[in-house]
Amino acid sequence: MASEYAIKQQICEIGKRIYDRGMVANNDGNISVKIGPDEFLCTPTGVSKGFMTPEFICKIDSKGNILHAYEGFKPSSEIKMHLRVYKERPDVNSVVHAHPMYATGFAIAGIPLTEPVMPEAIIQLGCVPIAEYGTPSTEEIPDAVSRYLQHYDAVLLENHGALAFSDSLLNAYHKMESVEFYAQLLFIAKMLGGPKALSEAQVKRLYELRRQFGFKGKHPADLCPVLAQGKTPCPNCDFSGNDCATSKAANAASADNDLVAEIAKRVLAQMGK
Ligand code: 13P
Repeated sequence: MASEYAIKQQICEIGKRIYDRGMVANNDGNISVKIGPDEFLCTPTGVSKGFMTPEFICKIDSKGNILHAYEGFKPSSEIKMHLRVYKERPDVNSVVHAHPMYATGFAIAGIPLTEPVMPEAIIQLGCVPIAEYGTPSTEEIPDAVSRYLQHYDAVLLENHGALAFSDSLLNAYHKMESVEFYAQLLFIAKMLGGPKALSEAQVKRLYELRRQFGFKGKHPADLCPVLAQGKTPCPNCDFSGNDCATSKAANAASADNDLVAEIAKRVLAQMGK
């Protein structure tokens, strides 16, 4: 495990990246990292996240109490939103909130990112719903986000921005990048006359691929396939479809394994793996 100081440096680096990439303006956005069962590092409120140094970073507990902060710095005004994610998603170790131009545009227009237009977005994100509007810094946003936490690793915040979370700071940041890239592509495709969406069967195959890759995190593809068919899952079903004999049998029956293997090879080649 990296030292606390090294993690503070990493938070500053990611802050600079979201600022340099235009994902935040002015003092917008916030970043947090879980460093222990009841200890979190987070960005301070009211500073540009593009110009932080390690002494800016605050340390808090799961209730938001300040464990350490240098004079002049207070935890992010949105820390309740971050803490709700950690509470309800024990697999999450980092949360990134930003206002990326295109993703926020969709959040303002009230259009969730649900059109299946490219394999990587489908495998990484599935789709990105919009959590209902809440007043910043209140419990309204955590309550709205909570509805989506068990099936997604990223959500748009209505009339506000985007939230991404993952098992590490880098992965949470990458999720945010993927959300923005997906939104940007969708916007461009709409400008060019409308996207040509992949078919339901093609999406199902990509979801199956994701299960085979064993990617961490939550995703619409992890909804138990047996449950989705309205049947009773087997007693050891973890609702992810990963460790459930019944789910595997259901998947195997419906999948063309050779085709899936070929798609896996091509997608991995495209991803450079
Ligand atoms: P903080 O500076 O308090 O983290 O707030 C920034 C922000 O983007 C609020 O939505």
